[in-house]
Amino acid sequence: MDRLLIRGGVPLRGKIQVNGSKNACLPIIASTLLTRDTTIIEEVPDLLDVRTMIAVLEGLGAAVDYRQEQGLLRINSGDLSKTALPADLVGRMRASFLVLGPLLARKKVVRLPLPGGCAIGTRPVDLHLKGLAAMGAQFSIANGCVEGITGGLQGARIYLDFPSVGATENIIMAATLARGTTILENAATEPEIVDLANCLNSMRAQVVGAGTARIRIEGVSRLGGTRHAIIPDRIEAGTLLLAGVITGGDLTVEHVLPDHLKSLLAKMTEAGAFVEEVGPTAIRAAANGRTAAVDLKTMPYPGFSTDLQPQFMTLLALSGGTSMVIETVFENRFRHIESLNRMGAQIQVEGRHAIVQGRPYLTGAPVVAPDLRGAAALLLAALAARGETELFAVHHLWRGHSRLEERLSLLGAQIERVAEEPEGAIKTGS
Ligand code: UD1
Repeated sequence: MDRLLIRGGVPLRGKIQVNGSKNACLPIIASTLLTRDTTIIEEVPDLLDVRTMIAVLEGLGAAVDYRQEQGLLRINSGDLSKTALPADLVGRMRASFLVLGPLLARKKVVRLPLPGGCAIGTRPVDLHLKGLAAMGAQFSIANGCVEGITGGLQGARIYLDFPSVGATENIIMAATLARGTTILENAATEPEIVDLANCLNSMRAQVVGAGTARIRIEGVSRLGGTRHAIIPDRIEAGTLLLAGVITGGDLTVEHVLPDHLKSLLAKMTEAGAFVEEVGPTAIRAAANGRTAAVDLKTMPYPGFSTDLQPQFMTLLALSGGTSMVIETVFENRFRHIESLNRMGAQIQVEGRHAIVQGRPYLTGAPVVAPDLRGAAALLLAALAARGETELFAVHHLWRGHSRLEERLSLLGAQIERVAEEPEGAIKTGS
């Protein structure tokens, strides 16, 4: 596996473009299973997770043409020869489970291994299954697999106990082809749900209310093809804005929707960073002296995103004073802390609370990325730290960020990707 060598302490300056959203792209790719017609998706980021989702669709029999240089993906799921997936694909990425709703709606039968993905907690799928069961699917779980079958999905009234993003997406997709009306209450309101609904509606689905907690879906008998451009990735945008401030630099992040980042921008401002919208799709962030401690609690959207908590914690590790971070969405999303502490941070964990005592500086060290967002947090720490950091298990980063090291280099970062020596190679002492 590759690793990154980062020499820290260089302020990042300049402009950088944000890629299309990973978390919008994955359900939208899954949604193409709902139609026999061809769908073209634009602004598709070249990520490991996108390639995994493409492999999932190909495994089901879809014809896929991906032009990664242009960010163009053409999918035709006219002939779906399979309704089951091998364990390794689903184990690699939890989002593979998003084919559950579309397959049930289209093929009435499905067999999927229980999902994997970032090791950030138990991440059950009970809400997905409960919602689809209310629509007339029957599930059995055996040997690590979920088998679903239905005589035809019916619209239903569904209340989610928690506004799960994935469950909201699976239920919306299934409901587009169900008989009658589905009303989903306490739905997730993330921008990625809105993007999915916009894409489905352009395929002639009838989804109303996406972006609110109550979504109404009128089932239709068939969906058509479409051409849809993915929204910008708010998590990548936030990570880059934090990189500008953490390194004491001055960055303008382009191709971003500031509305999607309100909670982050408010927290950055509260901490004393300079943040400014410089156009409808650009935000500038710069250091404004040392940032100050602030408290933080992750919440479903529009609250502070759990996907930006680790990166923001790196900022707090370098801020003046003591901050409290409460993680309410995932129970195990503090796995980056051990490595941050190894770099000189002072962070203590008590259950879902982390107490961060800001330090004037961090120092480079060999560290292992624990998961995607933890990898981003360690990268930010490395960019700000004194000395050199070796970041191992960097494949986690490629799950969510395309060619990040090249793009950061253009802003001044001293960062090098080193390919792992082949297994069995003898290391010399020098
Ligand atoms: C999505 C995002 C992920 C983000 C998360 C929360 C994608 C591909 N991934 O993940 O980056 O961190 O939203 O914003 O879009 N839960 C249950 N039962 C269920 C489903 C979820 O208890 O059936 C729990 C989970 O264990 C977790 C919480 O609900 O504690 C949030 O999960 P969910 O919103 O479903 O996240 P994902 O869709 O997996």
